[in-house]
Amino acid sequence: MTSEWQNVLRTQWGIDACLTKLPSEYDLNFLAETSDGDGFVLKIMRPDCNPGLVALQIAALHHITERAPNLPFPAVIPALSGDQMVTHSGPTGEASILWVLERLPGRTFAEALPKSATLIHDLGRVIGTSDLALADFTDPGLTRDFKWDLMQAQWITTEIASIATGPRRVSLERIVAEFDTIHPALQRLPSQAVHNDVNDYNILVDGALSQPHYISGLIDLGDICAAPRICNLAIAAAYLVLDAPDPEKRLTTLVAGYHSANPLATAEIDLIWPLLQMRLAVSVVNSTLMAQDNPNDPYVVISQAPAWRFLEKTSIDPGLLRARLRTACGLPVTDAAPRILSFLDRERGNFAPVMGTDLSGAPMGSLSVEHSIWPQNPFHLGRDEATRIGAEYEQDGQIWLGYYFEPRLIYAEPAFRNGPWLASDRRTVHLAVDGFAPANTPIYAPMDATVHVIENRTGHLDYGGVVILAHDTSEGDSFYTLYGHLNPEVCEKLKPGQTIEKGTPFCKLGTPSQNGGWAPHIHFQMALTLDGLGNDWPGVSDPDENDLWRAICPNPAALLNLPDAKTAYATTDKADVFAGRKANFGDNLVLSYRDPIMLVRGWQHHLFDEWGRPYLDAYNNVPHVGHAHPRIQAVATDQLKRINSNTRYLHSAQTTFADKLLSKLPDPLEVCFFVNSGSEANELALRLARAHTGAKGMVTPDHGYHGNTTGAIDLSAYKFNAKGGVGPSDWVELVEVADDYRGSFGRDDPDRAEKFAGLVDGAIERLAVQDIKVAGFIAETFPSVGGQIIPPKGYLQAVYAKIRAVGGLCIADEVQTGLGRLGDFYFGFEQQEVVPDIVVLGKPLGNGHPIGALVTTRAIADSFAKGPEFFSTFGGSTLSCRIGKEVLDIVDDEGLQANAKRQGDRLLDKLRALQDKHNCIGDVRGLGLFIGVDLVMDRANKNEATALATHVKNRMRDTRILLGSEGPKDSILKIRPPLTIQPDDVDMIIVTLDCILNERF
Ligand SMILES: Cc1ncc(COP(=O)(O)O)c(C=O)c1O
Repeated sequence: MTSEWQNVLRTQWGIDACLTKLPSEYDLNFLAETSDGDGFVLKIMRPDCNPGLVALQIAALHHITERAPNLPFPAVIPALSGDQMVTHSGPTGEASILWVLERLPGRTFAEALPKSATLIHDLGRVIGTSDLALADFTDPGLTRDFKWDLMQAQWITTEIASIATGPRRVSLERIVAEFDTIHPALQRLPSQAVHNDVNDYNILVDGALSQPHYISGLIDLGDICAAPRICNLAIAAAYLVLDAPDPEKRLTTLVAGYHSANPLATAEIDLIWPLLQMRLAVSVVNSTLMAQDNPNDPYVVISQAPAWRFLEKTSIDPGLLRARLRTACGLPVTDAAPRILSFLDRERGNFAPVMGTDLSGAPMGSLSVEHSIWPQNPFHLGRDEATRIGAEYEQDGQIWLGYYFEPRLIYAEPAFRNGPWLASDRRTVHLAVDGFAPANTPIYAPMDATVHVIENRTGHLDYGGVVILAHDTSEGDSFYTLYGHLNPEVCEKLKPGQTIEKGTPFCKLGTPSQNGGWAPHIHFQMALTLDGLGNDWPGVSDPDENDLWRAICPNPAALLNLPDAKTAYATTDKADVFAGRKANFGDNLVLSYRDPIMLVRGWQHHLFDEWGRPYLDAYNNVPHVGHAHPRIQAVATDQLKRINSNTRYLHSAQTTFADKLLSKLPDPLEVCFFVNSGSEANELALRLARAHTGAKGMVTPDHGYHGNTTGAIDLSAYKFNAKGGVGPSDWVELVEVADDYRGSFGRDDPDRAEKFAGLVDGAIERLAVQDIKVAGFIAETFPSVGGQIIPPKGYLQAVYAKIRAVGGLCIADEVQTGLGRLGDFYFGFEQQEVVPDIVVLGKPLGNGHPIGALVTTRAIADSFAKGPEFFSTFGGSTLSCRIGKEVLDIVDDEGLQANAKRQGDRLLDKLRALQDKHNCIGDVRGLGLFIGVDLVMDRANKNEATALATHVKNRMRDTRILLGSEGPKDSILKIRPPLTIQPDDVDMIIVTLDCILNERF
């Protein structure tokens, strides 16, 4: 049969192609691919198909192409005769209509992952533009009896009886009743041609990895009909929410995308939710009827499952959704909102003082994530901290005010988190103005009011006593004010419905034992609508929903007779900082991630941006014992209050730090040099090696990094061989990295350690040829920028023997690997069972304070001492020595090396389990919390998956996990968190990485 269609395509269209059947409900569709790679879709309509409906689709496609040539609709390919469709009688003698369309690139939206906000916005834009393009398209076929025309959806009313009585039937009856109420409004809207079936299989998506994906096709105009454009959008929306993790976000983004191309009126937006539900109702009723007609077809029942799941489980609040959709389109949250806001603005200055006094001179106090350290632990607000919050602003009981729209970390309890992990999204943005004043300070009604709600919410960190008042503007529009953290006696004094006159004291501030445990203050919030809020208003919102909450609960400053600017918090604008950075610094000062992050707070292994969004830090090894460690804060503060001087004077901090460091190192490493950085330490190591040996030449593995100073760069192939690098120096010889996954000698070779080490002979010879003697060998003990490599055991033993045999020194750069990160070992060289001549330390040694150190033997130090005085102004400063010693003590006291072992093993085990699921994981390697995940195009050829690594790194960042990528082709995910990481965090990394690898296009 296929060959017959192939023949027709050849004779009628002149297209010689192979045909592959495409899934289709009624008609027969083939993908036709020619040997030149051209693609077409051959459509063979069912024999009883009305030719007028095909002609309608063809005319609509031509119309769209003419009006909006950039829209991704397929072009109709005419037959050789010039006809747009051809009638052909198949072998059974039945005549079918055939027509041919251009094949569009991409895969179906159903298969596309992730369904990102950018993609959904683009979908909205394409639908909006297509409705614009079809607005003036007319055809008699557009108006017909059609069960999928939402305007005719009331046909299901009589069919609902086919659904068994129970909650499903009740919910359908509710949906239909709601639809009946909007039907008259719908009929008043202009009707036009609409696609009418933008479902997941009629949308195509394309785009390269790491680039934003876009809509590459909108296909199948088979359901085109005349209806208000909002029906078309609601139908697309109905499919988009099914089984979606974030249906409201998706809806909002889709509608915003549509509105950007084809602006909607608020009256239309308000219809989306009832229309969406009605479309799903039609769908489930239709498939129930089909199931009755085809009792043996399980597919019919399966296909309606997602719609039922949505209708049964949705927790979407219609009022809040309306507000979301309106604000996403930049429209007023309610029709009355602009009038209420202008009333408040007009009356500013005339309201009765809420705190009984003029607040214009009251100082503001910030509790923001940027400007305050309340609470010290952003995941726990202690009872004591809560009662003292903002104590630094309190002066003799004077009123001070807390900001509106200020992101704060004080909302630390799990109830403020939208997800299972510590780094899940969390609500941080304060939607009220706070007035801090002594307990029992009376609060006055700013204007005439009716009591709407009075409650005593006794939970810890809840409101205690809380009152909501309703007010009417002079135009008769209602709005509401909320007063939280009250003395609960208010519950006895007020009754719902009671009126309160402007200026009446109606409640008092509670004590901490009455007000949820807080320092006494009023939480004063307003709302322009209760639609979607009810009586339980969120006092704090998710920064990713700023537009919505700013619109529903605007700045209440006017009611306090204050200018908005006084109480509005201004977050540092990331875009300004970005621009400043571009202006002030060189272009090779590089930012991480496509969407750079501004970080203003840290705690252990979590970081917070300016809006208080949390990130799991799985990348930074400098905060070895955790960000903002209280013991580091304490010693730094203590020492800065005393003296911070240099090594020209005696101070016991220097010797105490040296003693502690040396206690971790084997003999004969006994002399310390303290400097400021890893680079400075490596630079010094080079000088020591040369002073001791009198030689100049160095041997080092390829792709190494030892720092940014001139000598260190010369030793760092990662830099000197990089694009624009200075190139190799004659005194440096490179050897291949001992990478037994990708390198010359694999893990199946038992002699690989010796073979890799043997390459050093060649390097020594090459130096000798130039008459350069060997001063030493330097290597990151486990190469990090080279791709988180763990060399085979025995490698360094063999290398050191060869170097020492020619008089050279062996330098271990332990900047990345030292101080317990490896779990089983305090230093990497222990795993290789060698003792270096010089050990270089940096990064983690100061937990962020700039400290580098070099430790060597007495003999080498003596050789160096024959030269000029050694002095590093800041190296070994009193402060640095106190901090360095504290870091080493914390690693011991908190068992962080053991934690690195536990969490590292957990992470490695789980990553290896992921490797079984995802072919793109070529290798998982590491020790403790020094881990690399080598991504490959395919496991056989191990080709580096560079674009994938970039994509994964950025997607992980989008999902609030920071990790990096490294390796010669930047294809290895680099994971090296602070040593404080916990099992839940490991699980978050694994769950998220698994999802992202599943998303791959
Ligand atoms: C292995 C190694 N050595 C030395 C350095 C240089 O240290 P610093 O940046 O403190 O100068 C680095 C920095 O990344 C490093 O990773």
